[in-house]
Amino acid sequence: MVAIAALAALVTTLVAVLIRWLPESASEEMDRIEFVFWFTTVICVAIWAIVSAVIVYAVLKFRAAPDDDTDGPPIHGHTGIEIVWTAVPAVLVTAISIVSAIVLAKNDDAGDNPLRIAVTAQQFAWRFEYPASAEGADDAVTAGELVLPVNQSVKLTLHSLDVIHSFWVPEFGQKSDAVPGIETTLVITPTRLGSYSLACTELCGLGHSTMRAAVEVVSREDYDAFLAAEREGGGGGGGGDDGEAVFASAGCGACHAFAPAGSDAEVGPGLDDLAGAAEGAGVSLEEFVRQSIVDPNARVAEGYQPDVMPDTYENTLSDEQLDGLVQYLVDGQGNGG
Ligand code: CUA
Repeated sequence: MVAIAALAALVTTLVAVLIRWLPESASEEMDRIEFVFWFTTVICVAIWAIVSAVIVYAVLKFRAAPDDDTDGPPIHGHTGIEIVWTAVPAVLVTAISIVSAIVLAKNDDAGDNPLRIAVTAQQFAWRFEYPASAEGADDAVTAGELVLPVNQSVKLTLHSLDVIHSFWVPEFGQKSDAVPGIETTLVITPTRLGSYSLACTELCGLGHSTMRAAVEVVSREDYDAFLAAEREGGGGGGGGDDGEAVFASAGCGACHAFAPAGSDAEVGPGLDDLAGAAEGAGVSLEEFVRQSIVDPNARVAEGYQPDVMPDTYENTLSDEQLDGLVQYLVDGQGNGG
C-alpha cells in the first residue's frame, strides 16, 4: 500500500511540477498567490496518494472470488476512523483558509506611500492617469500605456465609463473588475523588468477581445523619463492633442481599420475612405468625421449596429484632442487600400 501511495504521489507531483500551469511571476502579489497554490497542491497530492493507495489495495486484496455470491459480513462502522476522517480535513481546510486570508490581506495592502495610478476602462480601451509631479502641480499625465517602476508598490484605482470590464495582467496575478459608478482598487508591486499585456477579462461588447493595453515595467529612471516625455508632448495633462496620439490612447484602433495608424480591426467600419460616406450624407468631410465621433448613432454605417461605439468621447476628449483627432482622420483619407 505504501508503494502504491508513493507511486501516485510521484506521478501527480511530476504533473504539478513539469507542466507550466501559471505564467512566470512578475510581482510580489503573484509570488504570494503562487505560495497559496503550492501549499494547497501539496495537501491535495498527499490526500490523493493516500486515497488512491487504499482504493487500489482494497480492490486487489479484498476482491471476491468469481463464484462467491455470499453477502459480506455485517459491519456498523468504526468510530475511530470516522473521527480521523472528519478531524484531518477540518484542520487542512482551516489551514488553507488562514493562509489565504493572510495572503489576501497582504495583497490588498499598498503600504504607506504607494504610487497611485487611475485606470479608466471604456469600450474598448484603457486609459491611465499618472499623478502630477508635485503636490498641487497641474501636470498629471494621461496615456494609453501602463508604465510601472520596478519594486514600487502601486495602487490602481479602477473606473469604468460604461459597462463592467476587468483588469488582468497574468504575470501580476491580481485581477479586479472595473464597475461603472464605483471605484475598485488593485495593488501591484512589480518585481521583474519587461513587457506584459493587459487584457480585459469581462465580456464587455463586440470589441472585448481587442481591449488590451501594453504594460511596461521599467527602472525608476526610465519611469521618470517616460513621464517627462509625456509631459513634454502632452500639453498639460490631456495626453496630447496630436491626433495620432489621441487615436492611439482613445483606443480607436481596437475597433477601426485605419492605414495611417496601422490598425486593421474590423469591429467597426473602416476609416480609410470617409469622403464617399460624407458625400452620401451630404455634409463636409470634417463635419461628418466630427459628428461620427461625438454622436456615433447619428449615422450608422451600413452593415453595422447602433449603440456599439461609445457616445462619451465628447466628454472624455478635450476640445483640442477632438480637433486633433478629426484633423488626423481627415488628413489620412486616401492613404489606405
Ligand atoms: Cu472590456 Cu471586455
